Amino acid sequence: MGKLEIHNRIEALRRQIEELRYRYHVLNDPAVTDDIKDSLERELRQLETEHPEYALKDSPLNRVAGKPLQQFSKVKHEVRMLSLNDAFSKAELGEWDVRVRKILAAAADAASLTYFAEVKFDGLAVSLIYENGLFIRGATRGDGFIGEDITQNLKTIESIPLRLRQAVPGILEVRGEAVMPKQALEKLNLKQAAEGRPLFANTRNAAAGSLRQLDPALTAERKLDFFAYDIADNPGNPGLIASHSFNSSGTHSGLHLALRNLGFKTLEKLERVCRSLQMVENFIDEFEKIRPDLPFGTDGVVVSVDQIAFQKMLGVVGKAPRYMVAFKYPAEKATTKVKEIKVNVGRTGVLTPLAVFEPTLVAGSTISKATLHNLDQIERLDVRVGDTVVIQKAGDVIPEVVEVLPKMRTGREKKFKMPGLCPVCGAKVEKRQVADKKQAASTAYYCSNSKCPAKNRRFMQHFVNVLEIYEIGPKILDRFQEEGLISDAADIFSLDKADIQSLERFGEKSAENIIASISQHKKIPLPKFIYSLGILHVGEQTAEDLAVRFRSLAKLQEAGPEEINSIENIGPVVSRSVVEYFRDKDNARFIKKLFANGVEVLEYQPPIAGAKLAGKTFVITGTLESLSREAAKARIKQLGGRVAESVSKATDYVVVGKEPGSKYGKAQKLGVAVLSEPDFKSLINF
Ligand code: IVH
Repeated sequence: MGKLEIHNRIEALRRQIEELRYRYHVLNDPAVTDDIKDSLERELRQLETEHPEYALKDSPLNRVAGKPLQQFSKVKHEVRMLSLNDAFSKAELGEWDVRVRKILAAAADAASLTYFAEVKFDGLAVSLIYENGLFIRGATRGDGFIGEDITQNLKTIESIPLRLRQAVPGILEVRGEAVMPKQALEKLNLKQAAEGRPLFANTRNAAAGSLRQLDPALTAERKLDFFAYDIADNPGNPGLIASHSFNSSGTHSGLHLALRNLGFKTLEKLERVCRSLQMVENFIDEFEKIRPDLPFGTDGVVVSVDQIAFQKMLGVVGKAPRYMVAFKYPAEKATTKVKEIKVNVGRTGVLTPLAVFEPTLVAGSTISKATLHNLDQIERLDVRVGDTVVIQKAGDVIPEVVEVLPKMRTGREKKFKMPGLCPVCGAKVEKRQVADKKQAASTAYYCSNSKCPAKNRRFMQHFVNVLEIYEIGPKILDRFQEEGLISDAADIFSLDKADIQSLERFGEKSAENIIASISQHKKIPLPKFIYSLGILHVGEQTAEDLAVRFRSLAKLQEAGPEEINSIENIGPVVSRSVVEYFRDKDNARFIKKLFANGVEVLEYQPPIAGAKLAGKTFVITGTLESLSREAAKARIKQLGGRVAESVSKATDYVVVGKEPGSKYGKAQKLGVAVLSEPDFKSLINF
């Protein structure tokens, strides 16, 4: 090849590679497979090595160039990088809307106000400077006035164009967010763990840490991404090109379009021009649902006044513009102080420590306590009274203490000690080695008094819950006990309408509902009955396994430890616990009393031979109208199926009743078959 030919070939390869990368990273629409791109890159690399005179600064192969730095140099921003005021609720967003409208009220065309809603990325703000269309410098936000020069590292991000897709003479400053994809974080943390380094807590820390690597080769491994959201504009600064020279629309939404035309990635599908605050709120609600499925972290919605003329009228106050606000979704983690560690007594008599906090808002609800599970957990976390801790609440799960911030200690924090006496009845506390079904050992503390009122109270709550007598909640149980209507769970079946109706604040209707619910639940399938007894170590599955083996309560009551131990999944600890339970005289008396009060235990029904639903897993959500949930479950099991509590890819059918819960949405998302009540009934021949 002659010189000119080589030069032209190099140019063509560069253009083609840039184009392919743009389609891949910015448009998310790869034109060719990776091996074709790799092959073109290989050819270019070879030509550039053989002909260094053509190696250009903006070569697409130059993304990882330069040696590791000693330190980053400082960069003064031409235009201050502002921050945003936050709105932590729709009410706060509403207040912002009122302020905006008030200030604009004087404007002749105030009624044309529209808002622009877009995703708030959870990454690191960066500034990119282009000179005559070429990327020459990139910096962090720093304190807004002075940041750090991280040009080499930003060049490794393939969605940042090294050359703009439009001719732009002079200096242009683009701003946006560098983010780390969730998948990249997972990989990075695996690597960190393998190398014995600390893990990154979230994608934002990981993005920031990666951009602050002095060696760009390390940054390149981290696979960061970039979304543009603004062009710095300063009419008083002749050094910068004014954004309106690209954006004749005079709106922020138009600016996003201009950014796309220049070759930047924006999240076009998640941008919306809104004619009212209500539309903004709808966007916030819709985005909240799909946010967990995005491949990168987000923490809210940025809402701006769309018209730039209105933005100018609103101006900037302090370090934040008045025309923009960041709506933040409720944090799932927050910090708070441990005021006290209390001890609760559970139905098996186990003592459970509970951390009590200053009330704190987490994931939209105020949390003032969280379980610490057991002493082992307290020791593992090293939680002390007075500590500042990180608490977490995700969705419907019970709040938890995830971490202690030891640097916040004053020295006055107090270590927790398990009490020697039961906090409810004062009986001695016993320390026992316990094991779960998998034989994992842990230490637990128990109240030694079998008549401890706390145990009885918790047991009654468990009992009515398992039997699904939902009309009797914990408060009603307490009330019945205080009024002397019941002294144990068996008494529930001797209640009559008159007893309840005579109590203050209980009307005839509620008394009737309670009695109806009790009598509907008098016939109890064996597995449920076993589970309802609250035998130590016997959860729902073990109860089912016992029922399958013994078929009737009488047989189970007579069984010895070896026989129980021979059941798959049941070990010696559980077998001993079951045998001890049935040998105990008080327990035998309790079961007799249940029978005397009309309870009937239904023998286990083995699945019908050649069962129709063998191997199928069902999940039920919502209220079924023509049969109880219990009956539905029993029928599924009888036909050889399984009933699970949560939907996963392994679920075969989700049965959807009235007012279904989130399981319905999950089923749709995973593409699991959904059955209406009539469909379900015909499947089970009901
Ligand atoms: S506009 C005045 N748009 O949020 C600052 N910022 O809390 C203008 N951020 O420092 C920023 N996503 O790092 C804007 N779509 C988005 C954003 C966004 C994330 C960050 C940005 C800023 C911080 C302020």
